[in-house]
Amino acid sequence: MAGVLDQAAASEYNWAFNATYHETLNRKNYIMAKIYYDNDVDMKILNSRKIGIVGYGNQGRAQALNIKDSGFEPMVANRDDEYRDNAIKDGFEVHSISRVAREVDIVLFLIPDEVQSQVYRDQIKPHLKAGDVLCFASGYNIYYKAIVPPEGVGVIMVAPRMIGKAVRNLYVNGLGFPCLVACEKDQDGRFMPIALALAKAIGATRLGAFESSFREEVMIDLFAEQMLWPGIIKLCLLYFEKLTERGCDSEIVTTELHLSGEFVEIVKAMITHGFFGQLKLHSQTSQYGQLSRADRMAPSELLVQVEEVMEEISSGRFHTEWAEEQKKGKPNLSRLWQQILEHPLAKSEAKLGTLAKIAAKSYK
Ligand code: NAI
Repeated sequence: MAGVLDQAAASEYNWAFNATYHETLNRKNYIMAKIYYDNDVDMKILNSRKIGIVGYGNQGRAQALNIKDSGFEPMVANRDDEYRDNAIKDGFEVHSISRVAREVDIVLFLIPDEVQSQVYRDQIKPHLKAGDVLCFASGYNIYYKAIVPPEGVGVIMVAPRMIGKAVRNLYVNGLGFPCLVACEKDQDGRFMPIALALAKAIGATRLGAFESSFREEVMIDLFAEQMLWPGIIKLCLLYFEKLTERGCDSEIVTTELHLSGEFVEIVKAMITHGFFGQLKLHSQTSQYGQLSRADRMAPSELLVQVEEVMEEISSGRFHTEWAEEQKKGKPNLSRLWQQILEHPLAKSEAKLGTLAKIAAKSYK
C-alpha cells in the first residue's frame, strides 16, 4: 500500500511538522474549514431518493432513527443477528443487504470498516448503477482503496465525530454534534448537497458539518487512535506504576486516576472554558506544575515515534499491517489484550467493585 500518500499530502505532512506555531495558525486561517449549519442545507434533494441503511449497530441504529424522525423512510438491511432483532424492536422492517442495495438510491454503509470491503464486493457492488450514492461514516476504505466504486456512483462521507448512542440522544434532545462531510470525485458537484442533506437529517448541522475529505478523516481519526490515546494510556499506566512503587495504595491511585471522575470533568472544562482556559480552575501550584513540566513530556525520542506513527498512517503501512493481522485471525490483538489485562491497574479496578459501580452509574 506504500504510495497511497500523494505528493501534496506528503508535503503538507512535512510542512505541518516543520512549521512554527504561527505559520501553522496563519495557514489554518487561510484554509479555514467551511462549516454548514441547518439553514445552509435544503433537504428537498432527499425527497426523490430512497435511503437505505446497511447495518444497525452503533451508528446504524442512531442514524436510521434520526433520519426517520426527520421525516424520511429509510429501508434497513441487516444480516441475521441480534442487531436485526434491535431494528425490528424499533419498528423497522429488516431486509437483506442485497435487496436494499438493489432498491435504494443512497446506501448508508454502517457496518465495521474491517468487514466493509467483503460485504461491498459480494452484496452491494453487483446492484450499483450510475447515479446511486454510497455514503460512508469513515474515510478508511476509500482512502486506502480497499473499496473502489465504479464510475458514475457518488461516493460521499458523512462522518459524525460522536459515538452512535450520543448521535441519537443529542438528536432526541434537540441538540447536534460535529460531523465531517466529503465527496470523492464530485466533478459536477452533484453529490455534496446529498451529503449535506444527510448530515442535516441525522442532526449534525444543528452544531455544524465541516467540509472535509476522506483523507483528512483518516488522518485525524487514526492519529488520535495511534498517537494520542496510546500516549494517554501509557502515561496513566506510568502514573499507577510509579506511585505504587513508592508505596501509595493501589486503590487510592486508581480512584485518583479515573474513577473519581476528575479526568472527565477536566475534559468537560476544556469544552466550557477552553483547552487552556480550564487551567484557571486549578490551583496556581497546579498551573505552575502543569505548564512548567509540559515541555519535558515531549523529548526528542517521543517526537520520532510520533512522526513514525504518522508515516505509517499516511503511507498505508498501518492499513497493510492491520489487514494482514485480520487475515491471520488477529493473534497479536488477542495477545495485546491478554497482556494489558494482566496489568495491576486492572486488578486494582476489579478490587474496587462497589466504588467502580457507583462511579460508572454517575457517568452513564
Ligand atoms: P458496529 O460495530 O456497531 O456494527 C455493527 C453492525 O454491523 C451490525 O448491524 C452488524 O450486523 C453488522 N455487521 C458486522 N459484521 C458484519 C458482516 N460481516 N456482514 C454484514 N454485517 C455485519 O459499527 P459502527 O461502530 O456503527 O461503525 C459503522 C461505521 O461508522 C464505520 O465506518 C465506523 O468507522 C463509523 N463510525 C463509527 C462510530 C462509532 O460510534 N462507533 C463513530 C463515527 C463513525
